[in-house]
Amino acid sequence: MKNDQPNIFYTVNDLREFLAIASKQGKRIGFVPTMGNLHEGHLDLVRRASDLSDIVVVSIFVNPMQFGPHEDFDTYPQTLNLDCHALAGYDCAAVFAPTVREIYPKGLSTEIDVPRLSTILCGHHRPGHFKGVATVVCKLLNIVQPDIAVFGNKDYQQLQIIKTMVEDLLLPVQIIGTDTRREPNGLAMSSRNAYLLECEKQLASILYCALKKVAKAVQDNTQIKATLRQQKERLISAGFVLDYLEIRDAEDLSMTYVESDTAVVLVAAKLGDARLIDNVIVDLSK
Ligand code: PAF
Repeated sequence: MKNDQPNIFYTVNDLREFLAIASKQGKRIGFVPTMGNLHEGHLDLVRRASDLSDIVVVSIFVNPMQFGPHEDFDTYPQTLNLDCHALAGYDCAAVFAPTVREIYPKGLSTEIDVPRLSTILCGHHRPGHFKGVATVVCKLLNIVQPDIAVFGNKDYQQLQIIKTMVEDLLLPVQIIGTDTRREPNGLAMSSRNAYLLECEKQLASILYCALKKVAKAVQDNTQIKATLRQQKERLISAGFVLDYLEIRDAEDLSMTYVESDTAVVLVAAKLGDARLIDNVIVDLSK
């Protein structure tokens, strides 16, 4: 189904009524959860969802529960009109743009936690963040009840947490990860890149270079520790405040990647006002 402008729904009831008709017609529902401020990376997710389903729903909800007290919830870019405009012409039948009260009508007495995966890496630096993500994604999946839901591989830890949650809670949805869309200089696209000055955007490209250098060392199984140390030093001396640059097992994010088929090199670092994350997967079976 090609749409010029997606239908916009603000309430759970209205969206459910709309989707009930699609379900009765036997249509496969694809879902792309977002926090809005859509860029080409998000549109890739919509394209992927549309390839795999008959009707695509995009949610746009800046979820307060996943922001820490000193994080950017109040300043996070909210651009609903522009986002709907960007979705026109894509196969997006519905945008769900609820208020905070719609998603958390009685505050919060139930939380979803995937504790082991949520307390390492970004979870260590952003306590409570992934509990907020897992909770809102679980709610959104319950509202939309899609057959498939598409997420970006850029938020690699988030993707593994969501996959684990879906498996553990036996949710009837297939979770799909999609390749990271990059700027020509290699910088992973992210809504938070808007916080970077132009010169910082250029500098930020070395994050991806660092990941690729470490990934190559892992792939070749040579000088891994030395490469990791050099790349950490390089990022720090370029002005990044490094949260981590690590190699992990790609599935359970444990440190024992050596025994697995796939590893992932992950980075998180602050540059100016932006906290940037990125990763590169390494196929060790070759
Ligand atoms: O990746 C994001 O944009 C958010 O964490 C998500 C999955 C939409 C949950 O708020």
